Amino acid sequence: MSATAPVRAVLPPDIKARKGGTPLVVLTAYTTPVARLVDAHCDIALVGDSLGMVLHGMPSTVGVTMEMMILHGKSVVRGLQKAMAVIDMPFGSYEESPQQAFRNASRLMAETGAPAVKLEGGQTMAETIAFLTARGVPVMAHVGLTPQSVNTLGGYKVVGREGEAEKVMADAKACEAAGAFSIVLEKVPMGLSGQITKALTIPTIGIGAGADCDGQVLVVDDMLGMFTDFRPKFVKRYANLGQLADAAIADYAAEVRARSFPADEHSFADILPTKAKP
Ligand code: KIV
Repeated sequence: MSATAPVRAVLPPDIKARKGGTPLVVLTAYTTPVARLVDAHCDIALVGDSLGMVLHGMPSTVGVTMEMMILHGKSVVRGLQKAMAVIDMPFGSYEESPQQAFRNASRLMAETGAPAVKLEGGQTMAETIAFLTARGVPVMAHVGLTPQSVNTLGGYKVVGREGEAEKVMADAKACEAAGAFSIVLEKVPMGLSGQITKALTIPTIGIGAGADCDGQVLVVDDMLGMFTDFRPKFVKRYANLGQLADAAIADYAAEVRARSFPADEHSFADILPTKAKP
């Protein structure tokens, strides 16, 4: 059965109207419990295809499938009451033709209940963005570093320095002209992302793109410090959950080995306590 998309408090036109206002707060979410936490504080919960690397240990986002996005998308939408879900279109699900993109975007929306999709690419995706938006699929665009193209870009580099700046600006303008309701700028130098933000009438959402964007997005596991060995420059750690979890698991393992867990308070008595006589 397909998920019935509830009409949520926040929808793409509301996000578009936030241009130049209070910054948009966006975090990724891949599961219901995290979506509930994100919902309490954020405007958008992004079901990013980063879930392939963060949750499934993949080396890049290239191997993420529609089935993975649908499974996690449903899980996130169940946890949201206020924030809007945006779901990433995985690599290979939209690049072939606008028709292929519509088939898969409409499936993502219908089966998860998310009211919008995100796809990577600028000028080359403009026709597809226009095709989707004209047919009821709100699109968040994504330019600068586009991780699904890591193999052609040659790594997770800053995109938009010197000779590349004009192309990134043209990519962003093409997405806006095609009807995108907002745009992610990833690893774009801050001066350029400020210029793009000024030039566009749709909100820019930065990740590693400086403070002048209309909003910010981070991968939730990165900002919570779930990984001890991964810390890109643009991630500020607001907690060290990885260290806390490591210490907790070490305590548990030591207590099981020492037979100090479970204690009586975590166990069940063989005989029910007799009722006190009146
Ligand atoms: O996949 C993802 O999580 C993303 C954000 C980092 C923007 O695209």
